[in-house]
Amino acid sequence: MNEAVPEAPSSVESMAKQGCEKLGLEAFDALVRRARTCRRFDESMRVPREFLLELAELAHLAPCGANAQRLRFHVVSGAEDCARVFDELAWAGALKDWPGPDEGERPTGYIAILAERAVPGKPAAPITDVDTGIAAQTMMFAARSATPEVAACMFKAFTSHAIDAMGLDNDKYELKLIMAFGVPAETQVIDAIDSNPDGSINYWRDEAQVHHVPKRSLADVLV
Ligand SMILES: Cc1cc2nc3c(=O)[nH]c(=O)nc-3n(C[C@H](O)[C@H](O)[C@H](O)COP(=O)(O)O)c2cc1C
Repeated sequence: MNEAVPEAPSSVESMAKQGCEKLGLEAFDALVRRARTCRRFDESMRVPREFLLELAELAHLAPCGANAQRLRFHVVSGAEDCARVFDELAWAGALKDWPGPDEGERPTGYIAILAERAVPGKPAAPITDVDTGIAAQTMMFAARSATPEVAACMFKAFTSHAIDAMGLDNDKYELKLIMAFGVPAETQVIDAIDSNPDGSINYWRDEAQVHHVPKRSLADVLV
């Protein structure tokens, strides 16, 4: 039997797709594509605290500069504690007419990523910003791998009171990022970079409330 002749790659995108198939990466490829930021959740299905602790367990194994392991994780799961954190977050700067999720569609758990300050009150080592991103995306992927799927939103936009709202010592820890988790109650899709009707690269929602995330093509980002 003749082996099928592989189709000649017509673009860097199709070459990448062929590479993905050859390496058996389809499942991971699908995970990365669906691991979009989620901002509306089903609050009737709370994410168990044990699950959030497992996410922190995985995140603390992530690579970090010089293996210094300066990151700390704070898990928030009870409804009242979650409400206190929610009040300190700024949602979706690009969705100007949307103040954030209504009651019933708010996150049901949070994990704050903090960096221990070497000197009390002084900024933590700059490399902890890189460590934070790696830890955060580790948790994003882990959550989306679960059954039922758990989705997340990362927050850099939080008030200066957020660390107090979690009962943590601002002198000792620098709050790097807050991650909100919940069972997703919205659909997100990756879309073409020029898909936003307003002409910007901002994420946007269509009439069916589907959340569109414009992404550049691979060809546009290869240099
Ligand atoms: C470091 C970082 C900080 C972010 N901060 C916020 C935030 O404060 N509020 C918010 O609603 N979304 C925040 N996001 C989510 C981004 O808006 C989102 O990642 C971006 O629109 C691309 O969408 P995607 O995650 O689905 O690819 C943040 C994302 C990252 C990576």
